[in-house]
Amino acid sequence: MTWTEAVVVARFLATPDIAVIDLAPGEGTGFPAYTAGAHIDVLTDSGLVRQYSLCGPPESGRYRLAVLNAPDSRGGSQAMHALDVGDRLRISAPRNRFPLVTARRHLLFAGGIGITPLLAMVRQLKYEGGDYALRYCARSRARAAFVPELADDPRVTFHFDDEHPDQMLDMARDLGGPQPDTAVYVCGPGGFMDHVLGKAEALGWPPQTLHKERFSNSHADAQANAAGSGGFTIRLASTRAEYFVPEGSSVLDVLLENGVAAPHSCQLGICGECVVRVLAGDADHRDDVLTADERAAGMFATCSSRALSPTLELDL
Ligand code: FES
Repeated sequence: MTWTEAVVVARFLATPDIAVIDLAPGEGTGFPAYTAGAHIDVLTDSGLVRQYSLCGPPESGRYRLAVLNAPDSRGGSQAMHALDVGDRLRISAPRNRFPLVTARRHLLFAGGIGITPLLAMVRQLKYEGGDYALRYCARSRARAAFVPELADDPRVTFHFDDEHPDQMLDMARDLGGPQPDTAVYVCGPGGFMDHVLGKAEALGWPPQTLHKERFSNSHADAQANAAGSGGFTIRLASTRAEYFVPEGSSVLDVLLENGVAAPHSCQLGICGECVVRVLAGDADHRDDVLTADERAAGMFATCSSRALSPTLELDL
């Protein structure tokens, strides 16, 4: 991972627990361009790496992040909330695992802080004259970020838990059955994602029409997920070296312990940085980042996925 220095040039609270942070280049030339749905990695002083979607207007030359202060995180969000104007931090170049696809219509479902990549999508679709609708769910109006800048858009519908029951999200009514040439995008906390995606599938939407970005995996959940039960062997295609992955360790853990320069970032199964290709063996996919097509093509997230076969050969 190559890190670039950035400086905080603006910071304000969008809600009592969501900080909006604007970054400018800390040195040299401007930031790389990005498209809606992109995120950057942020390396905090405590060494944690966290992913944040870019939600500001790209033409500003700045990167805008919105960070929920999550008390049960490992400290990444608290460190971000403690930032002040003039503070410096290290960031990666933008990556986009959640891009807008070519479709006649785009249906966007945001839960809470999951609004951040979808806000960028709304802005891009509006600019391009695209056909879209955004449904934005949050616990309350006061705890939802960016409501003022979305409120005048007739294609945006809000659903607040503490308001009239009739305005709550109803997937049968608000999504309905599959529509031709229509893409669905979902981002938010795990429970929200499971609800929306589960209902969409039950309504008959094919998996390839459903696009998701999950960024609230807890570290404890991710570790338990990757640790799995039972061990297996991995073989590196380049050297034929074999390593055993015991119960309690991830593939990535074993690679790093053995000095293999395996790419990685979030270690939560959500960023895609650790993905390699499986050349032989059956994968047990446990990540939240790869699509069904990518899995079918042999892609494998070493930080979170395991093996169904005794041995997995990796393109490393
Ligand atoms: S390191 Fe992020 S998905 Fe594996």
